[in-house]
Amino acid sequence: MDEATAARPLVLVVDDDESMRELLRKQMERDGYRVNTAGDGRGALARAEAEPPDVVLLDALMPGMDGFQVAEALKVSAPTRTVPIIMVTGLNDQQSKLRALKAGAQEFLTKPVDRSEVSLRVQNVLMLKEYSNFLADQNRILEQRVQERSRQVLASYRETITTLCRAATYKDEETGGHVRRISYYTEDIASTLGMNAAFCETIHYASPMHDIGKIAIPDAILRKAGTLNPSEWDIMKSHTTLGAQLISSGDSPYLQMGAEIALHHHERWDGGGYPAGAKGQVIPISARIMNICDQYDALRSQRPYKAALPHERAVEIITAGDGRTMPSHFDPDVLGAFKRSAERFRKIFESVKE
Ligand SMILES: [Fe+2]
Ligand SMILES: [Fe+2]
Repeated sequence: MDEATAARPLVLVVDDDESMRELLRKQMERDGYRVNTAGDGRGALARAEAEPPDVVLLDALMPGMDGFQVAEALKVSAPTRTVPIIMVTGLNDQQSKLRALKAGAQEFLTKPVDRSEVSLRVQNVLMLKEYSNFLADQNRILEQRVQERSRQVLASYRETITTLCRAATYKDEETGGHVRRISYYTEDIASTLGMNAAFCETIHYASPMHDIGKIAIPDAILRKAGTLNPSEWDIMKSHTTLGAQLISSGDSPYLQMGAEIALHHHERWDGGGYPAGAKGQVIPISARIMNICDQYDALRSQRPYKAALPHERAVEIITAGDGRTMPSHFDPDVLGAFKRSAERFRKIFESVKE
């Protein structure tokens, strides 16, 4: 079949009377359509299934499966559900017209059929079908555009968050690599804990903002070589509340969770953390996850005052304690998830650099 032929609408003519079938076939071909024919109900369904037509001219009265049953069957089968049906009936009574409508026919023709009427009815039905196809296409295109736009908005949103976090690292001893690795660690623990997909995705983008409040801490304190005196330490600890203030006004889930993490990421399960000394479940799960990830990455990183530790030692300190870091600092469930995630933490640390 060449391209021009394939583009022509396909009419399926169904009639048990061969002379009627031939008459309709010829007429439809004269009108420029492609035509398939069937002499009974079963044959019609098989034909329609194999090559869904654009319109069916369907005889109502046939031996065996009649036109009403064929129409019903076409309407429940996915490939033929939207194919318009013109019922050709010898019965010019209200009752059979209602039956045909119920069975899903759009139009009727009464035998003996008037030639120009057949042509016009088929033309009308095809125009309607084309129009509804066009509408469906337009809807699909619109839907795709909306999705594309949302994807773009989301992508630029995430880019803004990432840039903000990168800006914060200029002031801090913590590096861009740390901020990027945190995303992967926190997402990994969240999914090991069985959190839902939305949570895992949100924590990926929210966790890098944990230290965003350091933007507001004076360099003299942030970069001080020696130990901080008590009042300096108080200022340092305020990076939690300042960070939360900075981003909590945003209503996106990223900023909401980001603020929650910023505020609570130094709290400890046993109540020994800051700023509030919050304990147990009072600390949001996002921050409990963040805390253990931050600890692992800090232990593995080199700082002016400490050497980088190997993976095994970092895991040992977190799970068994070293006097400074203790297992009681962590939510036992989160600690359990950390143990299961540990091998992946090693890989994240080794592969996600500056
Ligand atoms: Fe912090
Ligand atoms: Fe950190």
